[in-house]
Amino acid sequence: MDRESLEEMAKGMENFTYSSGLIEGVPFPKALCDSWDTIYNFGAREDDVLIATYPKAGTTCTQEIVDLMLQDGDVAKAMRAPTFVKVPFIELVLPKPVKTGVEMANDLESPRLLKTHLPIELLPPSFWEKNVKVIYVARNAKDCMVSYFYFQKMSKILPDPGSWNDHFSTFLAGEVPWGSWFDHVIGWWNARDKHRILYIFYEDMIEDPKREMRNMTKFLNINLSEDVLEKIKDHTSFQAMKKNPMTNSSAIPSSLMDRSVSQFMRKGIVGDWKNHFTVAQNVAFDEEYEKKMKGIDLTFRTEL
Ligand code: A3P
Repeated sequence: MDRESLEEMAKGMENFTYSSGLIEGVPFPKALCDSWDTIYNFGAREDDVLIATYPKAGTTCTQEIVDLMLQDGDVAKAMRAPTFVKVPFIELVLPKPVKTGVEMANDLESPRLLKTHLPIELLPPSFWEKNVKVIYVARNAKDCMVSYFYFQKMSKILPDPGSWNDHFSTFLAGEVPWGSWFDHVIGWWNARDKHRILYIFYEDMIEDPKREMRNMTKFLNINLSEDVLEKIKDHTSFQAMKKNPMTNSSAIPSSLMDRSVSQFMRKGIVGDWKNHFTVAQNVAFDEEYEKKMKGIDLTFRTEL
């Protein structure tokens, strides 16, 4: 996916209006639904590594961390292409002439690092057939909700979220693209012992990035020295990624991602929800959370 094809696509999108479709009851962009057979039949390879997340859970920094691990911490190699090019988003379908995520992944040599936001029940079965290693990153729902609000506002290919109050209700009802946060984090959690899944938390990565990186290297069977881990930590800090043109989305034309509305690298903290939730919203959210998470041994931190 090069800048020229993105710009050409953007030109053809002047009258673009978002339309939604459903796959097994989960809302997605209609273009994705129209290509669903191709996506579901994606051919995973046994040495692929997949990063799976609910949108806005810290996907990009995990992509960058794992890519650096696979490159032995070589920053020059990590700078070879923007994150969204070197780590294809398998279910991405944008207007032509931009390649689909499936096409981009098929073009890559092994070993490939891939990204998905699919809920577990919709993951292409070849990932399980090939016993692919998956790193699942979960982030607390309140911060995901806030982050998704700003992302939907700045992104021209997602629906306008409306007001914060509108978005609060849509998100809680699971009616945003890629569906319910609850179903997503619970589905992947319940599968973590059945497949090769490392389930980690954004909040833990913020608290102690090197501890979480050590977890990832162990899972991936990669040996890296403390110095290399320190280098990866520095290169993938929020401040470093905000400045880095390969990670801060500046490679995407502003007609597709309007950085004057919100930055892609926005805040990168735990607890920004406190600046957005009203007291009444917090009560309503906590009640719904209680119902949806009842009996699930999965806990999230909403502050550090
Ligand atoms: P905020 O909007 O709360 O700032 P994703 O990559 O899944 O789209 O997630 C985006 C969220 O991760 C954004 O959250 C973004 O700022 C944050 N983020 C991106 N890079 C980060 C980094 N290196 N460290 C911490 N947070 C990061």
